[in-house]
Amino acid sequence: MREKSVEALSEKEAAAELARLAQDIARHDALYYSKDAPELTDAEYDGLRRRNAAIEARFPGLVREDSPSLRVGAAPASSFGKVRHSVAMLSLDNAFDAEDARAFVARVQRFLNLDTPPAITAEPKIDGLSASLRYENGRFVQGATRGDGREGEDVTANLRTIKDIPQRITGAPAVLEVRGEVYMEKAAFAAMNARLEAEGKQAYVNPRNSAAGALRQLDAKITATRPLRFFAHGWGELSEPLAETQFESMARLKKMGFPVTPAMIRADNAEQLLAAYQQILEGRPSLAYEIDGVVYKVDSLALQQRLGFVSRSPRWAIAHKFAAEQQTTTLEAIDIQVGRTGALTPVGRLAPVFVGGVTVTNVTLHNADYIKGVGADGAPIRGGKDLRVGDTVVVQRAGDVIPQIVDVLLEKRAKGARKYQFPEACPVCGSHVARELEPGEEGVIARCTGGLNCPAQAVERLIHFVARRAMDIEGLGQKQIEEFYELGWVKEPADIFRLSDHRDELMTREGYGEKKRRQPACLHRCAPRARIRALSLWPRHPRHWRNHGWRFGAPL
Ligand code: IVH
Repeated sequence: MREKSVEALSEKEAAAELARLAQDIARHDALYYSKDAPELTDAEYDGLRRRNAAIEARFPGLVREDSPSLRVGAAPASSFGKVRHSVAMLSLDNAFDAEDARAFVARVQRFLNLDTPPAITAEPKIDGLSASLRYENGRFVQGATRGDGREGEDVTANLRTIKDIPQRITGAPAVLEVRGEVYMEKAAFAAMNARLEAEGKQAYVNPRNSAAGALRQLDAKITATRPLRFFAHGWGELSEPLAETQFESMARLKKMGFPVTPAMIRADNAEQLLAAYQQILEGRPSLAYEIDGVVYKVDSLALQQRLGFVSRSPRWAIAHKFAAEQQTTTLEAIDIQVGRTGALTPVGRLAPVFVGGVTVTNVTLHNADYIKGVGADGAPIRGGKDLRVGDTVVVQRAGDVIPQIVDVLLEKRAKGARKYQFPEACPVCGSHVARELEPGEEGVIARCTGGLNCPAQAVERLIHFVARRAMDIEGLGQKQIEEFYELGWVKEPADIFRLSDHRDELMTREGYGEKKRRQPACLHRCAPRARIRALSLWPRHPRHWRNHGWRFGAPL
């Protein structure tokens, strides 16, 4: 959907959008924090939060009880015990450029009504996940994840397996909660992933997700085999203050035996902070671990106290995020994929390029306008430059997830390079392609009008039918559907239940042996693990389906 500017929203629209944003952000929080499988880039996620904040700023009366601005992260998974944080574990506001950083310093100075800025520290922002370690009388008694900021998960046993975390400390207040970041070094992550892959297990996307996965193992013995590390960057509950400043407090924690975030400097003004940012940025590639920005904190604890908090983040600190990593490569081809609903999606095939920790070979090009250099809101993207096959392009992979082309190097464009012609006929079935603008969908959609006559649409619908969120048919996935469609055995869902007609022939095909014919006690969710096994080739009596019911997880 085209996004209306916040100023143009009516109150009713604003309320509806806040509801949608609350739901979306909660879902992305859950994907990020609980499933370690984010779908959005950090920048896209921040965009959602920023829009939510902007709408709330304009309509303060519409702030919802479940507003994302009032909480951090996701509620804890139920499998761990819960820990109520005596001092909330909050998050940090973000600065994305030097102007934002200067504005932070000015804001702090203005709030405190000072003639000059107060001393502010700068240190790397570690790309891991936060944890709180509670010490009572020098003994490590409890460790927790952040969870939703107020309540986290009790991961004491897992944290005890991390060698960086001291079990006993001396010279500490009777109650001391150390807050910091659990992370994995880049090399250890790569070695661990290689091992997982060799064992045929799922590899992790990046060190942070891997650290999160390791820390949230229900069996601490598994955590112990993962190369987790820890850096302290602050504290929670204290029975007495550690020192008068952030800088000295961290020095004290270091003396007690905690690894503290390195390279912390103390600056007197915004320009010194920006110089520290630059220095940390330049040192980034040679660090053994991932960092994703620089955190600035007002040094005086008395001033921190005066500054206090705004909803989810302290007024006395900010994270100055690094821009997403970028690399150049060649756009080797533009292929068109035809989806279940006939939508034509162009996909850019790239010469493989290593960016943001992964090798990227494909990028979605969304639609014809996107290729032309026009965004969903009609405004130019990439400075209005279109994409042509053979172009040298700049690829960005922000934070984690979806890679994108952010620029085209026109000076490297081949002389004869031709504008991309979006197909007017479906590349799979040749049917006419209609362009439509649908409410609720982004931008201009090109759709194949072939319906089920289009093999691509037919196959995609069948794949959707058997998928986990629909009929959940075990043993029948994309590969088999494509194969059976090609053979002419499965053209529509009902054919799946006539597969037994092809049993003899199927048995002669590679990959289909006795094992897959095993007959489960029941075909559909009757027993805890019983799933439809179409390849068992034993179609059920219709009464069976009536008894147990077809439950569609998602409509066809
Ligand atoms: S200070 C009130 N310092 O970044 C929160 N946080 O985006 C004070 N992080 O939840 C946090 N490195 O888990 C601080 N040097 C650093 C950090 C750091 C990483 C994490 C932390 C926080 C998140 C906020």
